[in-house]
Amino acid sequence: MSPRLLVIGSSNVDLFATVPRHPFPGETLLGTGGARAAGGKGANQALAAALQGANVQFVGAVGDDADAELALAGMRAAGVDLDRVVTVSGAPTGLAIITVSQDGENTIVVIPGANAQVSAEQAVGAVERMGSDDILLMQGELPPKSTEAAVRAAGAAGLRVVLNVAPWLALEHDVLTAADPLVLNEHEAQLAVAEFGLAPEDGGPMAMARALRMAGAPSVVITLGAEGAVVASAEPASQVSGSRAPVSGSRVTRLPSPRVTAVDSTGAGDAFTGALAARLLEGDDLQDAAAHAVRVGAYAVQRRGAQPSYPRAGQELPGTFA
Ligand code: RIB
Ligand code: NA
Repeated sequence: MSPRLLVIGSSNVDLFATVPRHPFPGETLLGTGGARAAGGKGANQALAAALQGANVQFVGAVGDDADAELALAGMRAAGVDLDRVVTVSGAPTGLAIITVSQDGENTIVVIPGANAQVSAEQAVGAVERMGSDDILLMQGELPPKSTEAAVRAAGAAGLRVVLNVAPWLALEHDVLTAADPLVLNEHEAQLAVAEFGLAPEDGGPMAMARALRMAGAPSVVITLGAEGAVVASAEPASQVSGSRAPVSGSRVTRLPSPRVTAVDSTGAGDAFTGALAARLLEGDDLQDAAAHAVRVGAYAVQRRGAQPSYPRAGQELPGTFA
């Protein structure tokens, strides 16, 4: 069987309101439109990876309500294995309330519902069935204990873990540094740097990525929205041998994003991370995988919604010069 991406994560229904601008506290504002769609960072990343051609299993929880079917619909249609999704009786399916302004910026409030019931036992049980070439992908929307247990189980078995700590969760340090790569946006990277008590020289993304790698993460990716991403990994062996560079030296690369007009950035980071994991599963090195993922993210911001905006493998991406 081809290697599989195991995504243990959240699934939500996203309730969108398009607004001329974001409301102030206490203000009532008229929106210009609305929609409901499948969301949740785990489900979004699972779908993004599956659309890129990856063999994906999603493990999570939904409620015993009418939203459960919608939350899983996108993944189901894309052929994601949902056999290990549990239905929690008496809990609502996760819900995200999202406003998207005219400039494509969003605010998101997540009500975890059934996602809060994904247990360490459920997560570890799925990890125990992984094959040696499989990759575990997790995010920051499940209970920290479940995330920590799954990452540790995968690490102990020598399996690759991609960890996108979005939203930021102050996980145990050994869990954060088990990630290869640790994927963060700039804000989350600042919180991670503070968590480790680091003070990178200039505070910029390249310095933060280098600092987090020195803290122990084998590789780090910091996403920068319209500015692309920064990737830090170990210096390739060819450049280390014979030189005086320490073996622990970092190669830090900045990957620019193609210029696009952003309509809705919701879930663009998930498109990036899912596509990144899909390429790593295919055997790409981190730089190549991230360069592709930047373009998948750029595709997604040009369209409304999260999951409905993700490209399929082979679809023309921004920055393709054929
Ligand atoms: O990253 C975007 C996602 O965050 C949305 O789909 C929403 O459900 C929240 O989990
Ligand atoms: Na989008």
